[in-house]
Amino acid sequence: MSTLEIKDLHVSVEDKEILKGIDLVVQSGEVHAIMGPNGSGKSTLSLAIMGHPRYRVTNGTVLLDGADLLAIPVDARARKGLFLAFQYPSAIPGVSVANFLRTAINARRSTPGVEKKNDMPIPQFRKLLAEKMKQLEVPDDFLKRAVNDGFSGGEKKRLETLQMHMFQPTFAILDETDSGLDIDALRTIATGIESLRGPDIGILLITHYERILRYVQPDFVHVLVDGRIVRTGGRELAAELESKGYDFVREELYKEPSAAGAKP
Ligand SMILES: Nc1ncnc2c1ncn2[C@@H]1O[C@H](COP(=O)(O)OP(=O)(O)OP(=O)(O)O)[C@@H](O)[C@H]1O
Ligand SMILES: [Mg+2]
Repeated sequence: MSTLEIKDLHVSVEDKEILKGIDLVVQSGEVHAIMGPNGSGKSTLSLAIMGHPRYRVTNGTVLLDGADLLAIPVDARARKGLFLAFQYPSAIPGVSVANFLRTAINARRSTPGVEKKNDMPIPQFRKLLAEKMKQLEVPDDFLKRAVNDGFSGGEKKRLETLQMHMFQPTFAILDETDSGLDIDALRTIATGIESLRGPDIGILLITHYERILRYVQPDFVHVLVDGRIVRTGGRELAAELESKGYDFVREELYKEPSAAGAKP
């Protein structure tokens, strides 16, 4: 049982405060969805947790089982079981998907400064990869292609899902580009995420649309507006947002203080 705890997180980009105090607790076994309009700070949250140098944490903490995650190097965060998938993943020309997966898995198993290799034996790696590719319906020719090089939006997401299944992280933070996906790709990816769900993993799924949440049913939905979580609810909140848009949470947010003040 693990806990990822985000406490009063403030993040600035180029001296502009984007996240203005995020509090969120994800336990293993839970799926949390973060929804919110464009520019509300959703990607900033995942980029700050992964330690992107442009995203400066000015206040607050992120704890993994009580230990300060932001105090350790980025590669160590991955070794602690954190997996991050990006809205716009980078291409790595010249590195095949198969090599990339093997190198990444072994990097996660290694201990820095320790010579003794803890690499996954090649037959075990091949067996795991074959199983996962079958399960996720990834075509064989995928393995020989260079990572994300010329990949379509759907293919990038498929690779990300495969990565996630291979790494078996304790926490996964997924920043979804569900807008670029056709219905079949969306379903395959959502099913891939859903099949990863289990008692040993906590998932934070960032998404724009309710669409993906029809396949991946979150336990909690949080609405992020202007760098703050303004509302938390169950999966019904996603449907409400889809039908009413984000304006109603905004309206509630901005009318609250004056409404409270106006009470006799
Ligand atoms: N590298 C950056 N340089 C300058 N401004 C940035 C940078 N990254 C984010 N921002 C600003 O921070 C705000 C939040 O951006 P962010 O990408 O986190 O939003 P988002 O909720 O992920 O939006 P979307 O739904 O479009 O993916 C925006 O106003 C954006 O312009
Ligand atoms: Mg984003």
